[in-house]
Amino acid sequence: MTSHQLCIVLDFGGQYNQLIARRVRECGVYCEVKSYKTSIEEIKSLNPVGIIFTGGPNSVYLESSPTISKEILELGIPILGICYGCQLMAHLSGGKVSTCISSEYGKTDTYYDKSSVIFGGIPELPEKAVSWMSHTDYISGLPEGFKITSHTENCPVASMENPDKKLYAVQFHPEVNHTEYGIKIIDSFLKNVCGCTGDWTMSNYAKTAVEDIRKKVGNGKVLLALSGGVDSSVAAALLAKAVGNQLTCIFVDHGFMRKNEGDEVEQAFADWGINFVRVNAKEQFMSKLRGVSDPETKRKTIGEEFIRVFEQEAKKIGAVDYLVQGTIYPDVIESGAGDAAVIKSHHNVGGLPDYVDFKEIIEPLRMLFKDEVRQLGTELGLSDVLVWRQPFPGPGLAIRIIGEITDEKLEILQDADYIFREEIAKAGLDRKISQYFAVLTSMRSVGVMGDSRTYDYTLALRGVTTTDFMTADFAKIPYDVLETIASRIVNEVNHINRIVYDVTTKPPATIEWE
Ligand code: XMP
Repeated sequence: MTSHQLCIVLDFGGQYNQLIARRVRECGVYCEVKSYKTSIEEIKSLNPVGIIFTGGPNSVYLESSPTISKEILELGIPILGICYGCQLMAHLSGGKVSTCISSEYGKTDTYYDKSSVIFGGIPELPEKAVSWMSHTDYISGLPEGFKITSHTENCPVASMENPDKKLYAVQFHPEVNHTEYGIKIIDSFLKNVCGCTGDWTMSNYAKTAVEDIRKKVGNGKVLLALSGGVDSSVAAALLAKAVGNQLTCIFVDHGFMRKNEGDEVEQAFADWGINFVRVNAKEQFMSKLRGVSDPETKRKTIGEEFIRVFEQEAKKIGAVDYLVQGTIYPDVIESGAGDAAVIKSHHNVGGLPDYVDFKEIIEPLRMLFKDEVRQLGTELGLSDVLVWRQPFPGPGLAIRIIGEITDEKLEILQDADYIFREEIAKAGLDRKISQYFAVLTSMRSVGVMGDSRTYDYTLALRGVTTTDFMTADFAKIPYDVLETIASRIVNEVNHINRIVYDVTTKPPATIEWE
């Protein structure tokens, strides 16, 4: 339990539930997302200073739609209803909700009444600003005791309030960036209505998470598969702080890490007082991959071998009580993708639980977004090398060497990739480009070095900008930076005589080449 002021986001099935939570945290207020099925008793016992009802895909007037006891509106706790939550508040309060003649979707001019408690608390909010609408139902009859506080051309009740009962609602989505002043609207609800002080910070989050973990784990044994990526590293740091030497981290080094990376990961955790097991399994992986050139076979082979190695090590430790996973919120959304076609079999620790003897999983980062995870990592004192590591695929450089992997190719790629990363950092672009790496194609071509003919590999450089990694643009790296990189690589790395820059977007290409 937390000693901070708590705001509860009651989830009615909206796609933005965690985004709302995130905005609340940005306003400096601690927040938890709970199902709409949470009992009134539990809600009361959490003693929230405010509650937010999320949107949802349903119509409030259908019997089967998610709802909540009317009693919640009588608790005297300030409530903000958003979209479906707005309609639900109207419905439960005796108002009328009907289907729109034409549904409203997208950026919409909204006319605000500045005498409203929420909007009046935002001096810079103009009387007309854009909000983001996405609804097919609307409030056609205002419930008693409420007044309209904004409208749009097609929506007579774009927001409403009943300050006596501390009930507030907006039909639009203040949590998305498209709503101008959206975050200010949430902030005004929290500060001007709920009386939040806004003093919650990521360091509070770390403290609370550590306390919660301690309480949960007790004297139990905890196991974590550490990849060296941001998520598993931050999860490890959190657990280390909470339970120290009850934690064992297993770092399976499959040999396909970037240059020096295995050592960097090991070093970063050297002083954390945890049991750190590094398994150098390169030979084992290489032996399984001999003669394999098909990308999917490579991925599957590495994924299976990874589990096997992890399992062997876990067995040495014996039965553990908890297995920690560094799942973050975007993973939760993506894993819900259901019937989506398999483009690539992603390798991560998702498959481990079946193979390891443990009682329960702990996912301490499940409600955080990537940049919040980074903030938390910094808060916990993790080095910049780990906190700002760019995403790295589970199978590592194995899928950046096209075709069969050999020790020689691996070394060539590690050296070339190292130079690429070094020069990008020197140019001050390392936090501006979402992901950048080198790919060793198995294509060879003719070149000339000194006075001699060469017949060597072509290296491809890839740099992308993206926010979600589902779509991506190629990074517009300045020519002079590319020139320096190319010149250094061909001069310093043997067996590369040609360098190309990948200028495809995703789609149609993917970010990785295999
Ligand atoms: P693609 O190539 O599918 O990559 O456009 C999208 C993002 O996912 C990363 N990636 C992986 N991450 N295990 C991971 O944890 C994997 O097997 C894997 N394959 C690709 C890729 O680096 C990019 O950031």
